[in-house]
Amino acid sequence: MKIGFFDSGVGGLTVLQTATQVLPPQQYIYFADTDNAPYGTKSKKTIKKLMFRVCDFFKEKKVDALVIACNTATSAAVKDLRKTYDFPIIGMEPAIKPAIEKSKGKKVLLFATELTLKEKKLKNLIARLNAKSKVKSIPLQELVIFAEEMKWDEPEVLAYLNKKLGKINWKNYSSIVLGCTHFLFYKKLFQKILPTHIEIIDGNLGTVLHLQNQVHLSSKRKKNKIDFYISGRKVKEDVFTPFLVAAGFNPQ
Ligand code: DGL
Repeated sequence: MKIGFFDSGVGGLTVLQTATQVLPPQQYIYFADTDNAPYGTKSKKTIKKLMFRVCDFFKEKKVDALVIACNTATSAAVKDLRKTYDFPIIGMEPAIKPAIEKSKGKKVLLFATELTLKEKKLKNLIARLNAKSKVKSIPLQELVIFAEEMKWDEPEVLAYLNKKLGKINWKNYSSIVLGCTHFLFYKKLFQKILPTHIEIIDGNLGTVLHLQNQVHLSSKRKKNKIDFYISGRKVKEDVFTPFLVAAGFNPQ
């Protein structure tokens, strides 16, 4: 089967990595809209426009399903895209539900992009879970750029996180939710700098399992095949090699 994966940049590779671990071998097309990244600082209208172009691309490629491995694009556009395209579209949303279920009366700290935090989709989710008083959120928009620039644990990144998180009273929190796929690259760094009782929760596996439920993923392939595109242009896998390594792909 042919499965499309989309992200504004390299963050979605972390979801694709999970897919390649969990699912039988498939043919994948990974589309990074690097020319237009980051999405999190753009307006909903602009993201919608970009996402219709992206979905036209995947329609042309005749994908059997599309994973929008981007919380930001999902919150801005998934509803409209599903109305327009025939193939199943699997979106991502911050994994607040499992985080709250495990929170034992403490709060949950959500990290996401500026747009994800502003959008109605998140507000509705929090309202549905009756969790307004249990969730605090912090935009970590700069981490998207750091990831695109391959800055993993440079002093600049540490200084930024210290500025954004330095005043948090971690005693009150049970977990952080990584509500942006770019943030998965910083999982180990978060583990290192946050108190040990803080659990790190993300929606990658949930999204992949959802894809599996939506589409009957049979496969005659022996190996995964991944084609890479940047904003519609086919590129060699080498372009993404450092990110594939950072996302935990096994070298071929
Ligand atoms: N990786 C994206 C997400 O999951 C978006 C990052 C951005 O382009 O701002 O939200």
